[in-house]
Amino acid sequence: MSGYQLAENVSLAGRNTFHVAARAAMMADVTRSEALSELFDFAMLREGPVMVLGEGSNLLFAADFPGVVVCLTMAKVHIVEDDGSHALVRAEAGLSWNDLVTWTLGRGLCGLENTALIPGTVGASPIQNIGAYGVEVGEFIETVEAFDRGTGQIKRVAHADCEFAYRDSRFKADLDQWVITAVEFRLPRQRELKLDYAGVREELAAMGVDTPRASHVAEAISRIRTRKLPNPALLGNAGSFFKNPVLPAAQADALKETHPLLPVFPSTSSELRKVSAAWLIEKAGWKGFREGDAGIAAQHALVLVNHGNATGAQLLSLAHRVADSVQETFGVGLEPEPRLIGARWQR
Ligand code: FAD
Ligand code: EPU
Repeated sequence: MSGYQLAENVSLAGRNTFHVAARAAMMADVTRSEALSELFDFAMLREGPVMVLGEGSNLLFAADFPGVVVCLTMAKVHIVEDDGSHALVRAEAGLSWNDLVTWTLGRGLCGLENTALIPGTVGASPIQNIGAYGVEVGEFIETVEAFDRGTGQIKRVAHADCEFAYRDSRFKADLDQWVITAVEFRLPRQRELKLDYAGVREELAAMGVDTPRASHVAEAISRIRTRKLPNPALLGNAGSFFKNPVLPAAQADALKETHPLLPVFPSTSSELRKVSAAWLIEKAGWKGFREGDAGIAAQHALVLVNHGNATGAQLLSLAHRVADSVQETFGVGLEPEPRLIGARWQR
């Protein structure tokens, strides 16, 4: 039993949420992490590139992939230890993120409720330290288990070495080195719920909930997300296409003075502020824009959308036009959040 299965010349159109047409020269479905060492030896023989693909909800194929696309199908989850106040949960990479959120809430564990309904897999969650509605998952990650291509071994990377930041981590900085095979989360049974993000309390009130539990928060956030973001099953997209720019405080304050309605949020240090990319894009006139099948969602200005048959290159070209126009109008540079395959952002 090798633990992986290979197929050649595979269509990726159904494996990315932009629904962009692209092909992989080879695809490997991996069922056991112990098989990765042999698989990478095999891939080296082919001398082509290798990439890991989860649910394809945070990448844009601007070209076919000429090497091996690795998909991890292991999806088991269990409680490793439980002291009554906290439990350590181990989830394998192929599990869907929202299934993990539901599984933990069902066992009375909280912490992940604000991240309900984020698409994608557990294995991808540490890559950009996924986050929503005031919570980033890095806060709960105790250990990331990952195959290190450099040594051919599976390593346990402790929280302190993961370098989690806003939409960033050590793993994102070196995507070719790591294949994340499992993640361990330390989750509390009780905690103060995070309800401060705009709209969350209002949604709970609309649900008729006075004393919310974590599962109510997950439901409220799922309802907000369903209204606010286009459903990739109906309209191809990868969520926010740009990160919210983090600017020196002086630049953000000057922008706010000229544009008092610009949403500005605190960042990791008092010298930095995060500003709303959606607001800048909307004010630059792009919300609801469409050219051919490439567009900017009418629902949310930060979401690049494929109305049908846009190519990755067409979507990327529109993203560049949007970023150029925001740069000209506001003097602010935008950086894409999803990984670009077969293209670079900097021209
Ligand atoms: P993929 O898109 O398949 O891969 C993303 C990156 O991770 C690639 O570089 C890939 O090579 C790498 N990767 C994937 N799995 C592994 C692994 N096991 N080991 C090593 N590398 C790996 N993100 C947020 O943070 N917050 C949100 O609120 C949010 N909302 C979204 C809403 C929508 C509608 C959509 C479509 C996306 C949203 N996203 C959000 C982005 C996306 O859901 C996350 O980035 C998610 O973690 C991607 O998971 P994936 O399995 O689809 O990864
Ligand atoms: N806004 C506009 N125009 C729009 C949409 C929003 O001006 O078309 C303004 C809103 O008025 C609001 C502000 O932008 O004041 C922020 O909007 P929102 O709450 O929708 O959040 P966001 O900054 O656009 C970020 C994340 C999302 C995450 C939400 C909720 C990034 C790049 N995006 O979006 O994550 O779900 O906050 O926490 O940080 C993703 O990463 O793919 C993603 C969807």
